[in-house]
Amino acid sequence: MLILAIETSCDETACAVLEVKPRTVPPSGTGARVKGSARRPIFHVRASVVASQIKIHAPYGGVVPTLAAREHVKNLPLVFKKTVRQARVKLKDLDYIAVTQGPGLVIALLVGISFARGLGYALNKKIIPVNHIKGHIFSNWMLNSAVQFPVLNIVVSGGHTELILMKRLGSYALIGETRDDAAGEAFDKVAKMLTLGYPGGPAVSKLAARGDAKRFNLPRPMIASDNYDFSFSGLKTAVLYLLRKHPDIARNKKSLADLCASFEQAIVDVIVAKTLRAAKEYGAKTVALSGGVSANRRLRAELERAIEKKLPEARFLVPDTSLSTDNAAMIAVSAFFNRSSAVSWKHLDAIPNLSVV
Ligand code: KG4
Ligand code: ZN
Repeated sequence: MLILAIETSCDETACAVLEVKPRTVPPSGTGARVKGSARRPIFHVRASVVASQIKIHAPYGGVVPTLAAREHVKNLPLVFKKTVRQARVKLKDLDYIAVTQGPGLVIALLVGISFARGLGYALNKKIIPVNHIKGHIFSNWMLNSAVQFPVLNIVVSGGHTELILMKRLGSYALIGETRDDAAGEAFDKVAKMLTLGYPGGPAVSKLAARGDAKRFNLPRPMIASDNYDFSFSGLKTAVLYLLRKHPDIARNKKSLADLCASFEQAIVDVIVAKTLRAAKEYGAKTVALSGGVSANRRLRAELERAIEKKLPEARFLVPDTSLSTDNAAMIAVSAFFNRSSAVSWKHLDAIPNLSVV
């Protein structure tokens, strides 16, 4: 099976071709039976192209929706062409077109949706609409299609911080979410205060690697609350007040690195504590970290270590960093598992506030 996927929900224009192959069945007569998760297929990414708009948005310190849409319009045909060429596929051989339907910026989503509708009409193929958050979740299935349930997903991106429990394929329960800023948003806003540029996550974590995480005592919001929700706006404000009181922190290389490390550690501590507690309560066999912030080294390492130590029976999954931030390969994998919801090009529209449940 060949799926061509398109992603334009935010500031990356992405396209991918995924080949889905059945797992080889043991020769008959061996008595071996293939069942359950072992029957799941093998995914081969034939091509995955991402055109980033970072340079366009960087001067504004955040994504400007109208500029994002304009760039998608300009880049998507080129990204599509490059993907098809790299994948060495003929368009008529595609089985499905997949496209991110939401959540995201409506005028950005509409570029991908319109393109997918055009392809669906011209090629007479069905279109699989994909939830962007589920796309992040399935970035962990690319190499590990035999994932054991229950799976506790911690999705941390620029727009979302969510704990999502999957008891089986197709079942999603929202266990907790942020009440204000998403983790990635907090990174971006603190980076803006420190004039480190956009996107903030990579810039802050690069400096944090050289800093002392114990230097500044920052709050761990909601770490002990008896629910699985998050809140990061207070942490951001704590950084703001600290900088107002001691503006010299931002001017000194060493203290700037220490502040970045202390801030990053506060976010990591909260995410690790809450994820671990939820994984225990729900008896997770797999804990899967995904979303742009999953590229963060401290978060990857500390969550992995905590699970190994406190929950040795669970397996930890995190995508390759190239699949942490937005891409279309993850949209294609998610589409495969959701192919029963394929629709005609006539019945497809963007849903900017689409939720996972
Ligand atoms: O998933 P994503 O590419 O887009 C959304 O769906 O939002 O996530 C982007 C977010 C940005 O906020 C960015 O600052 C953050 O992921 N990010 C990081 C790192 N790399 C990207 N945050 C912390 N550390 C990183 N290394
Ligand atoms: Zn994303």
